[in-house]
Amino acid sequence: MKPGCRIFLPCNNAPFFVVPFPESSKFSVCSDFLFRARKLHTCSSRFSGFRNIFNNVQRSCSSRNRNCGRSGILLNTPCRDSGPHFVTCCAASNIRDLSTSVETHLNDKNFERIYVHGGLNAKPLAVEKIDLDSNATINEDVIKSGNLENGVPFERLDETKSVRAGKEESEVEKEAWRLLRNAIVTYCGSPVGTLAANDPNDKLPLNYDQVFIRDFVPSAFAFMLKGEGEIVRNFLLHTLQLQSWEKTVDCYSPGQGLMPASFKVRSVALDDNKFEEVLDPDFGESAIGRVAPVDSGLWWIILLRAYGKLTGDYALQERVDVQTGIKLILNLCLSDGFDMFPSLLVTDGSCMIDRRMGIHGHPLEIQALFYSALRCAREMLTSDDGSKTLVRAVSNRLSALSFHIREYYWVDLKKINEIYRYKTEEYSMEATNKFNIYPEQIPHWLMHWIPETGGYLIGNLQPAHMDFRFFTLGNLWSIVSSLGTPKQNEAILNLIEAKWDDLIGQMPLKICFPALESEEWQIITGSDPKNTPWSYHNGGSWPTLLWQFTLACMKMGRIELAKEAIALAEKRLQTDQWPEYYDTRNGKFIGKQARLYQTWSIAGYLTSKMLLDNPEMASVLFWEEDYDLLETCVCALSNSSRKKCSRRLAKSQILV
Ligand code: GLC
Repeated sequence: MKPGCRIFLPCNNAPFFVVPFPESSKFSVCSDFLFRARKLHTCSSRFSGFRNIFNNVQRSCSSRNRNCGRSGILLNTPCRDSGPHFVTCCAASNIRDLSTSVETHLNDKNFERIYVHGGLNAKPLAVEKIDLDSNATINEDVIKSGNLENGVPFERLDETKSVRAGKEESEVEKEAWRLLRNAIVTYCGSPVGTLAANDPNDKLPLNYDQVFIRDFVPSAFAFMLKGEGEIVRNFLLHTLQLQSWEKTVDCYSPGQGLMPASFKVRSVALDDNKFEEVLDPDFGESAIGRVAPVDSGLWWIILLRAYGKLTGDYALQERVDVQTGIKLILNLCLSDGFDMFPSLLVTDGSCMIDRRMGIHGHPLEIQALFYSALRCAREMLTSDDGSKTLVRAVSNRLSALSFHIREYYWVDLKKINEIYRYKTEEYSMEATNKFNIYPEQIPHWLMHWIPETGGYLIGNLQPAHMDFRFFTLGNLWSIVSSLGTPKQNEAILNLIEAKWDDLIGQMPLKICFPALESEEWQIITGSDPKNTPWSYHNGGSWPTLLWQFTLACMKMGRIELAKEAIALAEKRLQTDQWPEYYDTRNGKFIGKQARLYQTWSIAGYLTSKMLLDNPEMASVLFWEEDYDLLETCVCALSNSSRKKCSRRLAKSQILV
């Protein structure tokens, strides 16, 4: 641990304090165990509060072995010491503000060389205050100008008005709005997110009383479509402050650029019997199963772009700290590893399905969000010399990724028949069966299930393994982001229509189909009692997927499908108290362990309704085919006479 300046971030527009730290022996003890970067974001500008946190941190570090896990392994698990103070065990190792690592990593040669050449000496982090109030002015401007880029009208609506695009809201919508507003979490007096679930009768909320990054997305859309951008702006800026800043090797700590899965606003006691609020992020170190939230950063980028489009406040994405946040996420996603596929290699449970479900490797959901986030980032990165290389890297990855998914993940009747007749053990660049898929692994259910028309992108692809399960979120985002070809996108909706009873049933939408049963369930989920067949992640039905289905249907001109699904949801959600998920093959029962008053079920419903009413706004949230990407092929094979580039060979196919 090098002594040096650390930055303390107060809120409410107070100027930043730059606080020199004394070198401390206790501090060094802690630093031996990786004194790492994670922001415990405080809103008070009082130095005493800061010192108090620091003292607590010292105490918790020095008592690490006694209270908080095994020596040498830092679990950033919140724990309490004997006193009244909240102590984050070894949280000091995660306070980004306190770490000199910011400077270290600003000069990280690799990062600078590849992605921010010449651009990072600007010291991007935390030099700008979180100017929360400026939002009002921006929105006023937008209102005055009357419209946004793309000609989308935007009005700030009075939140007490129960009007949706000129229509009177139904009783169900009114209740949904009331519940959504009740779920708002404030920090230093400003709204910063929504609770995952807000059931007053739930005595054991676990982490459902936190703000989840992925769960907040539909809330954010609902607020923005209603003309209320402030909460989204606050959320984006505060989560940015929580982003992991220092790269670490092990000890269950987040890598540089990782966004937390969730955060909680906690009250911390100060010396003088007062309290102050801190934002305490969870990067998966407290989460059940210790799963890494790979999707959080991707959702953050997607939301940031949508915020600009829907509110007209493009200044936010242009801020230096926001640009750096984008670059850090991209850096983490684009960094080289052992893997040679353009898809992102992740562990099981790294997305909405955050328990073991056999989706480690290259799950479709992550690939589709990755592709969407890359498209968003490419639009938002400010063009200067420093970002040219990064933008090129993004374009190349987009091009390779879309080829990879379109070519190798796609299945329809014809393709399954091809796989059924595959030769195996082919060794050559020209192999047809590149991943050595044994035809015997085509599951029986698929042979009967696949319709004459339609098709879908499979759940995962590994050597000698295709996961043929249908995963809804990945397929929907492939449509929304144009990861699939126009024909594939159309075919996915055709398949959903043809398999309506299986994928929509009595409650939209099935998270994946079919469920793992018997031995497969035992082996793949580890006999997870929450993920029994046709429950929760294992074939349960999740109302929150409705808004993404609506967006996909709107993009493809299939509004009638969305309306039908919304009508189904509308019939039950309010009566059933807005459950998190439904069980059984066709979604007949409220989920066995489903939370009630689950915010993203509520927000997903509202967002779906508002998207339908505002097609112009919906249209800025999806992407059409980018023909330039199809032209790009950076593979080194093109110049080699010995090897042939498979992408060139297959180009005719991906253009259809
Ligand atoms: C469950 C879901 C996850 C969600 C969280 C909070 O863990 O699997 O996707 O973010 O609950 O609602």
